Amino acid sequence: MAIPIKDIKLPEDSPKELLLDKHVEFIKRYGKSDDDYEFGMSDYLRMSGMYWGLTALELVDKLHILPENDVIDFIKRCQDPETGGISACIDHDPHLLYTLSAVQILCMYDRLDAVDASAVVNYVTSLQLPDGSFTGDKWGEVDTRFSFCAVATLALLNRLDAIDVEKAVSFVESCKNFDEGFGSRPFSESHAGMVYCCLGFLSITGRLDIVDRDTLAWWLCERQLPSGGLNGRPEKLPDVCYSWWVLSSLTMLGRLHWISAPALKRFILACQDVETGGFSDRPGDVADPYHTVFGFAALSLLGFDSIKPVNPTFCMPQHVIDKLKIKHQLL
Ligand code: FPP
Ligand code: ZN
Repeated sequence: MAIPIKDIKLPEDSPKELLLDKHVEFIKRYGKSDDDYEFGMSDYLRMSGMYWGLTALELVDKLHILPENDVIDFIKRCQDPETGGISACIDHDPHLLYTLSAVQILCMYDRLDAVDASAVVNYVTSLQLPDGSFTGDKWGEVDTRFSFCAVATLALLNRLDAIDVEKAVSFVESCKNFDEGFGSRPFSESHAGMVYCCLGFLSITGRLDIVDRDTLAWWLCERQLPSGGLNGRPEKLPDVCYSWWVLSSLTMLGRLHWISAPALKRFILACQDVETGGFSDRPGDVADPYHTVFGFAALSLLGFDSIKPVNPTFCMPQHVIDKLKIKHQLL
């Protein structure tokens, strides 16, 4: 049976060059717009929003344009004194997603000393279940995204020894499907976002041997559509963020060359907003910091020389990972 393809046509007049200065202004404005409606409505994910914006800036050597002290002070105030976990925003509940984002930001600033790191380790450890999986917080949702967040946070703190890695690996392995892709739980559909999380997890735990490299790389390179963009699953539209989830996965597998880089570059560049700056999911949509960092990070993997090298496992500037000497496996 043929699989119907959903795609878009790139507009003739879409941008063909990287509008770097506009993107820097876009992120800078976003960081300051606390009277903005959208900013007000996004406090539930503020810590990750800061990680996206600050990583985008550091990838183009502009981290210094935002005030480091304010960022560090905000993170300190988001660490929960009871559990050690870190929340998205002051007075919110801690969660693994925001704990990882906070630790990633602290590593970029070389300021891990600003939080109680051993309390963070205890928080992550407390979320592992007997089957090796991780919940995102005290409410108990299990997802392979949280397995990734747990090991990434611990690896950045050099404390992978604090959890049962073998059991964690067997849970992630149980989420592998017949197509060699991964879903969020056992028997869930393969999804490129979860493939990134599971490969990132296996890269950190040194267990990429459990995947059939070429079968998975084939599924991943089939995500490229005639427009050049990548989707996250069959029959879905292309989206700039999947340039990251798919390309980083192919990079971890050593199969980046299995997609057409020029076609993907054209698609990503076409998703820039020439007026406001920033990238959107598809040409003509509203730009946001999430699609901007993943646009930059994907262009970095494609070798754009105005963007610093990004690490495919951690989605952080490679120089930060090098400086901290974080071990991880790449095929
Ligand atoms: C798509 O989500 C993406 C994912 C499910 C992966 C998310 C990964 C993390 C939260 C781990 C931390 C990430 C980094 C880079 C350090 P979606 O809800 O947009 O999926 P949809 O396109 O199917 O709606
Ligand atoms: Zn997206």
